[in-house]
Amino acid sequence: MSGALCEASPSLALLKYWGKRDAVRNIPATTSVAVGLAELRTVTHVRLLPAKEGADRVLLNGTQQPPARYERFFEALRRTLRTEQRFEAESTNNFPTAAGLASSSSGFAALALASCRAVGADPPLRDLSSLARVGSASAARAVFGGFTILRAGAPAARQLYDESHWPELRVIVCVVEERAKKTASRRAMEASRLTSPYYRAWVRASARAVPNVLRALAARDLQQLGDAARESYLRMFATIVSTHPPIQYWLPSSVEILRECEAMRDEGIGVWETMDAGPQVKLLCVEDDVEEVRRRVETLGATSRTLVCSVGGTPRLSSEER
Ligand code: DP6
Repeated sequence: MSGALCEASPSLALLKYWGKRDAVRNIPATTSVAVGLAELRTVTHVRLLPAKEGADRVLLNGTQQPPARYERFFEALRRTLRTEQRFEAESTNNFPTAAGLASSSSGFAALALASCRAVGADPPLRDLSSLARVGSASAARAVFGGFTILRAGAPAARQLYDESHWPELRVIVCVVEERAKKTASRRAMEASRLTSPYYRAWVRASARAVPNVLRALAARDLQQLGDAARESYLRMFATIVSTHPPIQYWLPSSVEILRECEAMRDEGIGVWETMDAGPQVKLLCVEDDVEEVRRRVETLGATSRTLVCSVGGTPRLSSEER
């Protein structure tokens, strides 16, 4: 066997991971609860390199990636697989990369799954989640489909429900900026931990929110879940803007969409927003409201495109014989 292909979807947090308990092992300080976004896809092709090749290589959307970003991941991969094998990966996203759409979650999930399959290994999903976490903690969630949880301090995520739990749920991704962001989430969250006077309060408040989010998800109560998701991202941003020096991810067009979302809620339309480390806004609603919500957002002229996503399933994996 000489290669494998994996297609995975990014994991959008409703309750946010922001901050690390252990930066070396990449262990999160807050519990996150997330949903996979079916229509956004990362496709990763992994090939085994001949023994004489000394270094792993990753190509993302046609651009060679800095090896340092992948070093710990590949070391953990070789430890897990008990091999000296080097890998070459080629990855493409059908959505903007490093722009606050969780591309590192689907990227490292697909890389972990395809690399293991390429050597013919089939570790349990728990181990794959733990391996993907070394690359990016949100990727620990993305190795599963449906709804997932990654507990504060935990090495691996687990699935709460598969995609059939809430088939009517939709996430409208409002892309307001196609370009990559200036400050990577990894750097920003470490800056928050080290310098924001609100960081400890964020971690404490986030822990208190967990039972409520789990109840809302179990009951498929969009109002309760939407309110909790808003509270989580806004509190996360309170620690981001209060870092020293401050980091500002929002754009005027992000705020325009937040305001429109508020106006729609006031009119009785069930729509709630969340944001990640970037200017894009994601709107939670049910299938029946998609058309109206999308029309209202597009009328603002604040987006370059809107992408409607349903709940994503398990990553797809295939082997290649050559
Ligand atoms: C705002 O998982 O990209 O999207 O573990 O340092 O790679 P690293 O960070 P990453 O951070 C995701 C942050 C977030 C919230 C979330 O997905 O929970």
